Amino acid sequence: MSFNPILRVENLHKSFKGVKAVHNVSFRMREGEIVGLIGPNGAGKTTFFNLIAGSVTPDKGHIFFNEQDVTSLKPHEICLLGMARTFQIVRPFKDLTTLDNVIIGALAKEKNPLRAKKNAMEILSLLDLKDKAQQQAEFLTLPERKRLEVARALATKPSLLLLDEVMAGLRPSEVDMMVGVLQNLNKQLGLSIVVIEHVMRAVMCLSNHIIVLNHGEKIAEGKPEIITKDPRVLECYLGEAAA
Ligand SMILES: Nc1ncnc2c1ncn2[C@@H]1O[C@H](COP(=O)(O)OP(=O)(O)OP(=O)(O)O)[C@@H](O)[C@H]1O
Ligand SMILES: [Mg+2]
Repeated sequence: MSFNPILRVENLHKSFKGVKAVHNVSFRMREGEIVGLIGPNGAGKTTFFNLIAGSVTPDKGHIFFNEQDVTSLKPHEICLLGMARTFQIVRPFKDLTTLDNVIIGALAKEKNPLRAKKNAMEILSLLDLKDKAQQQAEFLTLPERKRLEVARALATKPSLLLLDEVMAGLRPSEVDMMVGVLQNLNKQLGLSIVVIEHVMRAVMCLSNHIIVLNHGEKIAEGKPEIITKDPRVLECYLGEAAA
């Protein structure tokens, strides 16, 4: 493929005490794409995000963000370059308000506190959290906490957003809302997004391109309509259901 990728991963490896969490994974992603990262539980999806975002160091391989080698950079350095991620286990600052949680993200890029607050309020509106701005984050519902997680990541003004299961546990109408928000961000701001998601309906309608991991290895990639018919993909999911 001959294009300048926003993200390029070359032969990435990470093992934990003999468990090959990510094994020889390579891929490249165009700017403006939405990529779905799927695979059964324990396939290595979150580890893959941890490697890309700098919170885990690879045993082997390289990660290039906008063709800059970020393999050995720290998470905050990668964030400053324009990559933001959410965590599978949501982790807001529980004692702070929803607004203050988002302001903290905004301050990563905007040093003026008034402008950071204005940016944070705009993002809260976008994620339908404006009414919860002054509420302590601890008392938000699960769907609200999931949206707060996305809001905090967006506040850092990323060009690439990594979302780890932000739709898990949501009702179908809440999933639809999240899909709509992500589609708007992608279309209006040109934001590139990688979504790890078990909610297949959402990942299939959002993604231009899907990557499938199983036991740490990339077993398939391509357009959603191709992936859903791929025998290797069907087998790894059916195998999981049968287990
Ligand atoms: N910090 C760690 N220490 C030891 N083993 C780990 C660590 N992180 C991940 N693993 C192991 O690596 C493998 C991949 O885990 P990972 O969390 O990346 O999978 P996943 O695809 O995100 O799964 P899920 O869909 O359940 O979130 C698993 O076997 C897991 O137990
Ligand atoms: Mg995971």
